[in-house]
Amino acid sequence: MRAGGDAPVTVAHLTAPTDHRAQMIEDVRHGLTAYRKHLASKYFYDARGSELFDEITRLPEYYLTSAETEILAERADSIMAEVQPDELIELGSGSSDKTRMLIESMQRNSSGRRYVPLDISEEALRSAALRLCDDYTWLEVEGLVGDYVPDLGKIRRRGRRLIVFLGSTIGNYVPTLRHSLLRSVAAALEPGDAFLLGLDLVKDEETMIAAYDDSPGVSAEFNKNILHVINRELGGDIPVDAFEHVTRFDRELSCMSQSLRASRDVVANIRALDLAVTFVAGEEIHTEVSCKFSRIQVEREFDAAGMRLTHWYTDNGDRFAVAIGSLQTPP
Ligand code: SAH
Ligand code: AVI
Repeated sequence: MRAGGDAPVTVAHLTAPTDHRAQMIEDVRHGLTAYRKHLASKYFYDARGSELFDEITRLPEYYLTSAETEILAERADSIMAEVQPDELIELGSGSSDKTRMLIESMQRNSSGRRYVPLDISEEALRSAALRLCDDYTWLEVEGLVGDYVPDLGKIRRRGRRLIVFLGSTIGNYVPTLRHSLLRSVAAALEPGDAFLLGLDLVKDEETMIAAYDDSPGVSAEFNKNILHVINRELGGDIPVDAFEHVTRFDRELSCMSQSLRASRDVVANIRALDLAVTFVAGEEIHTEVSCKFSRIQVEREFDAAGMRLTHWYTDNGDRFAVAIGSLQTPP
């Protein structure tokens, strides 16, 4: 595929769509037949889910995006000047909007011109890649559709790397899975490479709850979208209107926790699973954790994964942080 610019843009699949579907069937069967029902948050993101997420990022209550933007606007040049990457690899790139600050800074501060966004949402990835290609004609964009958990190690190295993971998406993983993900990131780094991670910080509960329960109801619609995805992709007849958006702060795990609660008894059929699922009134399907962090915790988690924290930047309100890590140097 070629768009308006001079440099090429390509979009390739790291996971074959048939494998993605097989994984989804297995995950949804496992989650909806469990004693405590649950679904993986990666299934929010079809085209509509990605649009709803972008809408959330524009809500005043969802402070995460503006706080991270503030940090990147201030620090992108010094980060790029220090790392001097040949390639910028982004996990869960979505609209790539904030990444533009890093891309522009890459042009000013390093010789690199390769951008590799990796996202599970093909629609979001394709439209972001085309827009970038039009706006930055010098940039080579190699879009990869895939799941960064199994696929990160498949990306071909083309020089010094900066791997970025923005938006506090790392917080959508519970500690054990987060550890595996950070270890995969460390395995994809070589000496001289760097990892840039956006993290939402622990703060007062009222502010965090408002971010996940906005008054226009966009967060609720985003949460319910996972049921629309299952109905469409797996031939389900789950009555989406019978479920309510629930969000609460879990102090033990230090995370916002989202679920969908059945407001009445429900029986739903999912054709691709050959399964009838029952929900009693009040029963919840857990859909997402959004963990919140502190500096000491990130230092420990980097350390456990074989990385060291080299820089820690926060916004003026100390709501959000951008952490930079690199491989630990052997003693
Ligand atoms: N980085 C952007 C988007 C965050 S939303 C920002 O900071 O605003 C999370 C993004 O991660 C979505 O685009 C979603 O499609 C993608 N995503 C979620 N789970 C994923 C997975 N397992 N593998 C790859 N991409 C994933
Ligand atoms: C992508 N991720 C970091 C968002 C979050 O804050 O956990 C997804 C989201 N869920 C509800 N609102 C936004």
